[in-house]
Amino acid sequence: MHPHPFGRKITGFVAARSALWHEPEAMQAKNPSTPPHLPRRDAERPPLVRPSGALPAETLPLILEVAPDADYALIDSGEGQKLERYGPLRIVRPENQAIWARALPPRDWNRVDAVFTGDTDEEGMGRWRFPREPLGETWPMRFDGLSYLGRFTSFRHVGVFPEQAPHWRHMAGLIEEASAKRREPVKVLNLFGYTGLASLIAARAGAHVTHVDASKKAIGWARENQEVAGLETKPIRWICEDAMRFIEREVKRESRYDIVLLDPPAYGRGPKGEVWQLFSDLPALVALTRQVLTPKPLAVVLTAYSIRASFFAIHALLRDSFAGMGGRVESGELVIREENEAARALSTSLYARWVAR
Ligand SMILES: C[S@@+](CC[C@H](N)C(=O)[O-])C[C@H]1O[C@@H](n2cnc3c(N)ncnc32)[C@H](O)[C@@H]1O
Repeated sequence: MHPHPFGRKITGFVAARSALWHEPEAMQAKNPSTPPHLPRRDAERPPLVRPSGALPAETLPLILEVAPDADYALIDSGEGQKLERYGPLRIVRPENQAIWARALPPRDWNRVDAVFTGDTDEEGMGRWRFPREPLGETWPMRFDGLSYLGRFTSFRHVGVFPEQAPHWRHMAGLIEEASAKRREPVKVLNLFGYTGLASLIAARAGAHVTHVDASKKAIGWARENQEVAGLETKPIRWICEDAMRFIEREVKRESRYDIVLLDPPAYGRGPKGEVWQLFSDLPALVALTRQVLTPKPLAVVLTAYSIRASFFAIHALLRDSFAGMGGRVESGELVIREENEAARALSTSLYARWVAR
């Protein structure tokens, strides 16, 4: 089998996140060259029912932007690549949306610590080149004072998606505000939680968190981040399971959450090979999400990467699915603003979120 998921060598022009989220191991499809033809799970489900009641209010488009700061910056982009600063490191990675010219001269692009080469003959760290000195797999990072590890992974990701920062700050604000007003803890469900940043930020803000991911490796990284952050005593349940199976069980167990975070890949695999396909499975996941909400929920935040759709699609899905619940659905894109004088905005993903107020 060809080592690259789409049977061709990476050239420097690749999607922002792969159409098949294939890292770490549990996300790999058995035949990664054919994600659109994976078996579908929606055939066994009853047809979707459109809930009755008034639609939530709406705000769109709402573009949420990340500005450069001491922990992270998009230094420059162009010619199919981006130059970023992650804590102490300057990193170059492919970026297929950077179709413009670079704003900074070559000396800025040459003065870097790590470059993702995408060498198809290599795995893990081998797919990175370190022009200055050999680096270890991880390095110290911070987000709003929270320590965690950046990480060179085999599919050009670095263990964090900085564009999520506006969602994290918004969620932390909701948790702190609600915690000040009530006795019982705010409960957060983080599905497709990856390296756990959102879970740690929620726990630091005072929530009880349930973090679900299909990958044992990703759960391991998230637990390591919990230690690095010094949040070992915070109530976080780390669960390695298929997101869909987990939420189906939570509905049956009558578990309830105040905030649900959904950051699904376009395609993925559960630990037992369960297939996740965003277009066919997301409607059912959102319907189940409604069923696990507490009577007075705070928010549901959905992000979507690398899909051929507009935020209007996930906006309509959330608004329809949460009819009769009041609140508001806000949708748009998560973008990162460059640090240089061109100050271009790089789009990273679509999102839609339901908020009670
Ligand atoms: C896009 S990443 C999440 C990024 C993370 N929320 C963040 O912003 O940093 C997708 C995650 O979904 C997980 N995943 C893929 N298929 C899954 C499934 N069927 N059930 C649960 N998790 C799955 C992957 O292991 C991966 O960690």
